[in-house]
Amino acid sequence: MSSKFDPILPLNLILPHPNPNPNSLHLPAGPPAAAKLVITGGNSLSGHVPISGSKNSALAILAATLCCRGDSKLSNVPQLIDTTTMAAVLSSLGAEIEFSGNEVVVRTDRVGSVEPDAGLVGRIRGGFFVVGPLLARFGEAAVGLPGGCDIGARPVDIYVRGLRELGAVVELRDNKLVARAANGRGLVGGRFRLDYPSVGATQTLMMAACLAEGTTLLSNVAGEPEIADLASFLTSAGARVGGVGTDKICIHGTRQLYGTEHTIMPDRIEAGTFMLAAAITRSRISLSPVCPELLSVLIDKLSGAGCTISHVRDELELSAIPRRSGEGLRGFDVRTLPYPGFPTDLQPQTMALLSTCDGLSIVEESVFENRLTHVKELQKFGAKIYTEGSTAFVHRKGRGEKLRGARVDAADLRGGMSLVLAGLAAEGVTQVSRMCNIDRGYESLETKLRSLGADVKRLEKSQSILRS
Ligand code: UD1
Repeated sequence: MSSKFDPILPLNLILPHPNPNPNSLHLPAGPPAAAKLVITGGNSLSGHVPISGSKNSALAILAATLCCRGDSKLSNVPQLIDTTTMAAVLSSLGAEIEFSGNEVVVRTDRVGSVEPDAGLVGRIRGGFFVVGPLLARFGEAAVGLPGGCDIGARPVDIYVRGLRELGAVVELRDNKLVARAANGRGLVGGRFRLDYPSVGATQTLMMAACLAEGTTLLSNVAGEPEIADLASFLTSAGARVGGVGTDKICIHGTRQLYGTEHTIMPDRIEAGTFMLAAAITRSRISLSPVCPELLSVLIDKLSGAGCTISHVRDELELSAIPRRSGEGLRGFDVRTLPYPGFPTDLQPQTMALLSTCDGLSIVEESVFENRLTHVKELQKFGAKIYTEGSTAFVHRKGRGEKLRGARVDAADLRGGMSLVLAGLAAEGVTQVSRMCNIDRGYESLETKLRSLGADVKRLEKSQSILRS
């Protein structure tokens, strides 16, 4: 997986950047960047928590609206920093976006640019996905390199090779990926094997292939459920997509896609996080809507640890209340892998739980090369975790010993959330700074935690209750 690009002929075919129309973007206000969360730990959780729409699915489908003429209406879109940033990316192209609660209408008929605001694209990984739809619909794109959490190099070489296979000429210029359809008309179908089942590359190539001439066969594709949600949106817009759920996707290109209505799937990572919150606090909660089959690897691990998990239709209940007093949860080993393996997006939160479980647990991060930065923050709670490369060894604390509240920093989204979970279980007060990173992926976090009985309070900039 390298990030090298072959320099090729320069390209001067970019449409002018439109003046953003202030009336075209009705976004909900985001939370202040410097907010902190203060958690008084030790409360047991109980009750029911509603699960929001999937962040990752919403980001890809918002990008996919650019493939469609007319209006697309999306429901169950979570109100998050990342989704509003993605909406701003579309708006910077000339799309009109209207948010109303969790509904978003995207009108793409006035899109007049193929160069989204690079500053916005640089904030989220999903911003880069627009390269596929722009290239497919307008024959060209100039998209800044992606941002997102600082969890590894996150190159885009697979996107580049795949787009070239669909007939695009691609080069890297001024920190932007600049691409155009080589034949001057549009993309053409082709065969491409991804050398790693990258989620974003699979989604980007699917969107590009839907409007390419002829048939595209993508192999070794990602099988994450969010891919199926994207395929369902594209199909409803008129695309012909087959093989979803297998490691090969076949797409028969079509001239046009039309805006459609779609409901974003529930967020399996948010659901998994709340299951882990119940486990780490040795509580019982229920959550819905969830698709338990999409969480089977976590359900198996938590059941093996001693939790009782049941589900009826889309409602899941987890109890980690000890059956006998003094009984602990058993630790387990985790190796993150592409779906259906253990999700890397649940690794940090799982590590927080494991720091409270009996025995030695070994956690191996195999998807991203730098996703253990939360370890040093978890150690501030007294967690006994040691790392060797991408592997963490998590030891049980002394019998009866609990995590202690700490002042910690949320350097990234899921790592930050692992600190919130540790704070819920810890004795005393925890202060998690840089909540802006956690707000990227958890809708109404404090409201949901408070409704379960957690003692959490948000402090805005400059307020502090703990000494440095
Ligand atoms: C998506 C999710 C992210 C999740 C990840 C893996 C979104 C917005 N984000 O990220 O939450 O953690 O899937 O489930 O949906 N790689 C390359 N070259 C490429 C592309 C990827 O080497 O061209 C590597 C990455 O560096 C990484 C691995 O492939 O090591 C997986 O990345 P990928 O599946 O692409 O993740 P994202 O789509 O970025």
